Amino acid sequence: MSNKFLIAPSLLAADPLNMEKDLMDVEAAGADWHHIDIMDGHFVPNLTYGVPLVKAMKKICKIPLDVHIMVSNPDQIALDFVKAGADLLSFHVEAATHSHRLLQAIRAEGALAGLAVNPGTPVEMTFPLLSGTDVVLLMSVNPGFGGQSYIVETEGRVAALRQEINRRGLNCRIEVDGGITDKTGALVAKAGADIVVAGTYVYGAKDRKQTIATLRDRCVNFGK
Ligand code: DX5
Ligand code: ZN
Repeated sequence: MSNKFLIAPSLLAADPLNMEKDLMDVEAAGADWHHIDIMDGHFVPNLTYGVPLVKAMKKICKIPLDVHIMVSNPDQIALDFVKAGADLLSFHVEAATHSHRLLQAIRAEGALAGLAVNPGTPVEMTFPLLSGTDVVLLMSVNPGFGGQSYIVETEGRVAALRQEINRRGLNCRIEVDGGITDKTGALVAKAGADIVVAGTYVYGAKDRKQTIATLRDRCVNFGK
């Protein structure tokens, strides 16, 4: 993976009746990855998409698919999404029974392995797993819905994780998900994040190209 700062618009905020049009539109607007939120109505109080959508997206999308599974049984279902075309598969550390084994299995299947962490879970829970993790997906809202407000403690959690990754000389990236705008994006980027998910902020914008450009500028040039 390069060191480029990445912006991943979340499909959750797209028009469900015009997904293809919206996907192509954010690609043309400069999105780096598509973030796809898989919810099972059990681990989180909402239901979204399944494996067939990822498979269909793989055929038409020109940028990587960043699949975030919010499900109670990631050990059973994660690899189905990888086989369907996920380039990054992130599962919740709170839900997996054997996180280390699952990270290894995702990499063995040829995808990047991601560990997602809820706002109330100590970020230190990821530390014993970091050498086998490509991306830590830190939630900055409670997973389940788009359009929520950013939780202010997130920056401190990003900083603690960044410190640990740098201290050990690891390549693991930090992705922040939920309530991201140009302002909150700059805060988490300053704390050490290098990927942001943005649903409402990007898909809800009139000019998505300008919005992605502004978000990228604030995240890359924070404080300048
Ligand atoms: C929440 C999802 C997020 C969400 C982000 O459960 O994981 O990816 O779609 O949406 P916004 O950017 O609107 O907070
Ligand atoms: Zn997500």
